[in-house]
Amino acid sequence: MCGIVGYTGPRSALDILVPGLEKLEYRGYDSAGICVVDVTESIQTIKTTGKLSGLKEELKRHTSIKGYSGIGHTRWATHGEVTLENAHPHQDCAQEISVAHNGIVENYASLKDELQRVGHKFLSLTDTEIIPHLIEEELKHTKSLENAIAKTVSRLEGGNSILVISTLEKGRIIAARKGNSGSIAIGTGNNEMFVASDLPAIVPHTKTVQHLDAEEMAIISPEKVLYRDLTGKQLEKPYTEISSTLQSPSKGNFEHFMLKEIYEQPKAIRQTFQNRISFDKKQIDFPNFPMTQEEINSLKKIVLVGMGSSLHAAMVGKTWMERVAGIPAEWDHSSEFRYRESVFQEGTLVISLTQSGETADTLAAMLKAKEHLASQVVLSNYPGTQAERIAERLLPIEAGPEIGVAATKTFTCSLTTLYLFSIFLGVKRGQLDLLKTSSLISSLSLLPELMTKYLSTDDQIREISNKYQGYPNFLFLGRGLNYPLAMEGALKLKEVSYIHAEGYPAGEMKHGPISLIDNSMPVVGIVPSDGLKDKMLSNLSESKARGARVLAIASESDSQIQNVADDVIRIPDAPSDLNPIVAALPLQLLAYHIAHIRGCDIDQPRNLAKSVTVE
Ligand code: G6P
Repeated sequence: MCGIVGYTGPRSALDILVPGLEKLEYRGYDSAGICVVDVTESIQTIKTTGKLSGLKEELKRHTSIKGYSGIGHTRWATHGEVTLENAHPHQDCAQEISVAHNGIVENYASLKDELQRVGHKFLSLTDTEIIPHLIEEELKHTKSLENAIAKTVSRLEGGNSILVISTLEKGRIIAARKGNSGSIAIGTGNNEMFVASDLPAIVPHTKTVQHLDAEEMAIISPEKVLYRDLTGKQLEKPYTEISSTLQSPSKGNFEHFMLKEIYEQPKAIRQTFQNRISFDKKQIDFPNFPMTQEEINSLKKIVLVGMGSSLHAAMVGKTWMERVAGIPAEWDHSSEFRYRESVFQEGTLVISLTQSGETADTLAAMLKAKEHLASQVVLSNYPGTQAERIAERLLPIEAGPEIGVAATKTFTCSLTTLYLFSIFLGVKRGQLDLLKTSSLISSLSLLPELMTKYLSTDDQIREISNKYQGYPNFLFLGRGLNYPLAMEGALKLKEVSYIHAEGYPAGEMKHGPISLIDNSMPVVGIVPSDGLKDKMLSNLSESKARGARVLAIASESDSQIQNVADDVIRIPDAPSDLNPIVAALPLQLLAYHIAHIRGCDIDQPRNLAKSVTVE
């Protein structure tokens, strides 16, 4: 989850590392640190706890630091609390080797014991700190820093990626990966090199990168990069173009990125439609999408996997794949799927959803599917990610950069892409006739307008948020396509306002959650006018009868809901398939406004990170 960045070249390393860390802060904001090999040829380290702004302030007191190679780190704590001692980069006993690390060294305890027995002294409680000490130890047996790093990395268990600088080899950065989490990309400049865990830190400097894969190393000097595997075999790595969509946006007139991104959804959905839907011809196509008619015909099952909001999109996708494409479908948490003994039948398509393309559990689930030779597609917001490289087939969700840690527009764009894909499959398999296809596509054409119309009623949600912000617990209920939305609404509220909330399929309510209901527990019902509305009304009445304050999200035309609910948020009437996309908006806004009233750190909620690169 941590962000790592490195620079070597003629410029002052700090001028590249600090803006690079700004781009990586969404990876973690528990602490930040940089190390540069300075002109006196020693390593200078500056670290602070908390957000990057603290490091920037601290650096103002160290204006004399001048170094032309260095590494930086922004931390999401895994081992060891948020303290200065535990902030990265970490060093060996002689303070000649510095390491910035992303991942978890799963066998760190035994390695630490071993190192302590031969006299190494540790200053932190992190798993990371064993890495520079292990390199130092290996250097007793070899003169080559590169070989010592290769030996060290080979001994690490789990998914790990590191950047190393050392006074022993000035001007060089050595990058290495072990296991399958934590990207490293290397960008070439004019006699300078940039390296980072994420492309946004590199994109201002170069338009092409090379990616390091698992069990590989890069020996980076200002003028060249040599690639090898951990056994020493030289490698050639291809260059990849970086997309310009990776440029970081600003907040504009919005107070938070989350609110800006909520408001961007109608535009983002139009982008998702672009070059895929012909509203005139009533056709959906995915240009340059390599899936043959024969492969589509032979599909017997679809498995959708993801984590967090992407999982909730996957859950909605299951229903669409069955209802629209007529293909049996199931969903799973990537973290469960990767360890389950799933039976892979011929004709199974695994659809992974990951807006970042870097979520460790989702990558592992995809690798498992690949091992079993399952056909794969990944839905992601960024090209060039590890997820795309594993799946070899990308359906971009086209949301544009999302900076707020809580997913908003990437959620609705993932949903929209999935829905288009289900129609595409339905048509190709002969499940949808011309009339039905044409009616589904006509409904889709209304979606951005419906969303814009809804967003103009935001003031109402602000008022309702004032009434509800003081409750300590919430229960979100939905049925059918809206059950995953209940999960998503509860997740948003938890993430940004730190209020405890649960999302449940409404039918489960009587099997436990109902015992929690009293007047201190609001129930948020997602009740658009669809075939399950009456069932939902009964469940909300049952909640009301037990004292709950009921907040309903209901269709504009519904005339019954006010008899059951204390407060009603009206959403535009939409075809039932599209309700989850429209209903996402009030759920996001409710979480946003409640968090705002409570004074929470909305774009960077505590303990969270936008891309979760450890399990
Ligand atoms: C983190 C983020 C969530 C996101 C989830 C999955 O938990 O905070 O917003 O939904 O990861 O991320 P992915 O990039 O795989 O969609």
